[in-house]
Amino acid sequence: MEKITVVGPGRVGESTAQILAKEELCRELVLLGRQEGVARGIALDIQESAPLFGFDTRVTGGADPALMAGSDLVIITAGAPRKPGMSRADLRDANLPVITTILDQVMHYAPQAMVLIVSNPVDVLTYHAWRHTGWARQRVFGLSGVLDSARMASFIALETGFSVKDITALVIGGHGDTMVPLPRYTCINGIPVTHFLPPDIIARLVEHTRQGGAEILALKENSSAYDSPAAAIATMVDALVHRRRRVLPCVAMLDGEYGQRDIAFGVPAILGGTGVEKVVELPLTEEEKEAVRRSAEQVRASIGATG
Ligand code: LAC
Repeated sequence: MEKITVVGPGRVGESTAQILAKEELCRELVLLGRQEGVARGIALDIQESAPLFGFDTRVTGGADPALMAGSDLVIITAGAPRKPGMSRADLRDANLPVITTILDQVMHYAPQAMVLIVSNPVDVLTYHAWRHTGWARQRVFGLSGVLDSARMASFIALETGFSVKDITALVIGGHGDTMVPLPRYTCINGIPVTHFLPPDIIARLVEHTRQGGAEILALKENSSAYDSPAAAIATMVDALVHRRRRVLPCVAMLDGEYGQRDIAFGVPAILGGTGVEKVVELPLTEEEKEAVRRSAEQVRASIGATG
């Protein structure tokens, strides 16, 4: 990929930019923020690490949206992070206008780009991005499942003592406390986790996964997670850049899959060179279907309230 723009030089945006540059996932990387000096300073700081890590990515920063011109991918991490005591609805109302302004800039300066939404509430904002741009659903998607599944895999590794390299977890649904971790589709080198852990332990790890983001926020008090979110974003970008066609859970627009349409929702998808190439529909038990329905209802209610 030639050019990637990260909008929002907060902790998530900065960590993401560091990884993308270091991994040489693009030739040109732009960090856009409202404060010119902050964006330029971070970009320069990352650029100066290039001789040490040995990467040729050119990193620039600034406040002028024209800097994103011709980007192949725009990653939006801008907006307020969640503060303790803040509801998802508070965050939605604060971030919707911010995202709308950025989307207008993307449509103007990078009309061919794919858009990856990271800002929260990610499912609501991804839906909004799709509606606002009018772009194909393939090109507009969000982060959630890769992060939530990484949290679940981490907790399983810590619980079992097994290598995390062998663990693949799968979490679908909204990126909130109704998310749907799927132990039946969570494996340790192909062997379902249910073979290794009893139901009560799995239930505890599932709940821990659901609370993963909130737990970090509560511990740090005034910052959400950013290291694992940035790693999750880089995983998605790597799949796009290298046209890997990886099967990764993403926030994707649904058009009948999982019995849902007109909603952005966490589902396994094939992520390749053109974005979300296909949503993968899994057979679910009645109980899993019910959890998906409940999560979809919550996301839909939040989308509906945006008018
Ligand atoms: C998290 C928030 C930031 O899951 O979405 O960490």
